[in-house]
Formats: sequence, C-alpha cells, structure tokens
Amino acid sequence: MRNLNADNITEAVIEEFSGCQDERLKTILNSLVTHLHAFLREVEPTEKEWTQAIDFLTRTGQMCDDQRQEFILLSDTLGVTMLVDAINHQTSDPMVSESTVLGPFYVADPPEIAQGESIDWNVEGEPFFVEGRVHDEHGEPLANVVIDVWQSDSEGYYDVQKELESASLRARFSTDDQGRYAFWTVTPSPYPIPTDGPVGKMLEVTGRHPYRPAHVHFMLMAEGFETLVTQVFAENDPYLNSDAVFGVKDSLVTEYELFPPGKAPDGRSMDVPFRHLTYDFGLKAS
Ligand code: BEZ
Ligand code: FE
Repeated sequence: MRNLNADNITEAVIEEFSGCQDERLKTILNSLVTHLHAFLREVEPTEKEWTQAIDFLTRTGQMCDDQRQEFILLSDTLGVTMLVDAINHQTSDPMVSESTVLGPFYVADPPEIAQGESIDWNVEGEPFFVEGRVHDEHGEPLANVVIDVWQSDSEGYYDVQKELESASLRARFSTDDQGRYAFWTVTPSPYPIPTDGPVGKMLEVTGRHPYRPAHVHFMLMAEGFETLVTQVFAENDPYLNSDAVFGVKDSLVTEYELFPPGKAPDGRSMDVPFRHLTYDFGLKAS
C-alpha cells in the first residue's frame, strides 16, 4: 500500500476494512468510501474548499447539545431524513397513512388529556377542532391507540421555543372504542426552521427560504402496529411546494375548514370563527 494516487486509493482504503468482522458495517463503510471518493473526484475541491467543508461540519457539531440537534437539521434540509423515511416506510396501500419527518420539537411524555379537551394552554389563537378515526389496514377501528400531538402556535412558535413554564399545544390521548380521537387547539401557522446555526447560513447563501407549511404533528403508537410519525398539512399553504425539509406528501394535505361563529361539530357553542380538521389514520401491522 504505497504510491497511492487518485486512481487506486479507493481500493486501498476498502482493502484495509476487509478484516472487519461485522459484515453489515463493512458493507456500509465500503460503500461510503466508494461514494465519498467518487464525489471528490467529480467535484475536485481545492484545499481551501475542503477546509471550509470541515469547518462547516465542525460548527454543525458544536451547535449540538441535548436541546439542539443541528446535524438532524442538516439531514432534514438536504432531503436525507425524508430519503431514510422513504426507504423504511414506503407504502402503496391507501389504507396505511404515510409518514414524514419527526422534527426537533417532539417532547416525550406530553400532558395526558381526555377525548375532546383543549391543548391551547396559555396561548391565544383561532380555535381549531381536530378529530378523526384510527383504523387498521382493513379499515377496522383501533381502540386505545396512544396519540401524541404537537404543533406551533399561530405565530409559528413551539412551546419549547418560548420558555413557557409548562407545556402547551402538545398532548397525549387515546382513541375510544370506535377508534375516534378529538381535541381543541389553535390553528398553526407556517414557520421557519431554526436559522441561527450553520444550516441557516447554508440556506441563506444558497438562496433557499427556511419555511415549513402549517401542520400538526402526530405520533400514533399501538401494540402490534408500526409506530406512525406524521403530520397533517393545511391545504392552500404557500409553502406546500417548497417545504424547507421536503416533508409534504399529497395524502397528508387537507383543508383546515373555516366556519363562522355557531355550533361546533362537538356541540360546543362558538362566538368566534373557528376551523375544523377531520383526518383518519391507517396503521400497518408490525
Ligand atoms: C418540524 O416540523 O417541527 C420540523 C421538522 C424538521 C426540521 C425543523 C422543524
Ligand atoms: Fe413542526
């Protein structure tokens, strides 16, 4: 292994991994080296550019702590998160709901609520009633599915970005014996992903905007079924076709229907306009 050049160095590096006992790890590393070297042969970076690349990745790592994950944001904005999602959760069954990116604002074990309660603690906004059913691949209702929801407020902020004393616009509840769920909240709005780090700089210098279309996040968990991590987007949102993290799928877009004051679908009497979203989820057996 001497006198290596641009033509034979790839083979030499792969040969060094040949003793790796873990076959899967060896396959991954061989492919990584092959593609990384091919990328460099194609791009032919100057040494200054390579130093800049290392510096970018270093700053991305330095931005990470237990609250902030800049590497996941990089993966999101390069379409890598959605590619991994597509590889692992591709479905052509119309009875199974599509998944999308988790995002950085999920908090485990949110406050538990009963069917039909409000999650708009300490926030103002347009009232929004969200309801639907959860079923299996055959359309049979699923009872006791645990659902976590989380969303931004009407100005585009999650509770964790506002340093509130307690959780808001996030909750956990379970489907009833007919597979139904319902909750009151406020209508979310489009918002920018965090732009104060290297990923934000990358978007800026490449002329990309940081916005995501308005959405509500859902995580559905049930014994014997694959956990579904997904979002339901608002029809007519200006960012549906340019989501900064490439997470929009047609099956996840629906109307957040606007109603004048009057009786809401759950019988509540409303003296201000409100919106209503109905969305059914299909889970895949594991
Ligand atoms: C979100 O929808 O919460 C999100 C997803 C990816 C990156 C940033 C935010
Ligand atoms: Fe979000």
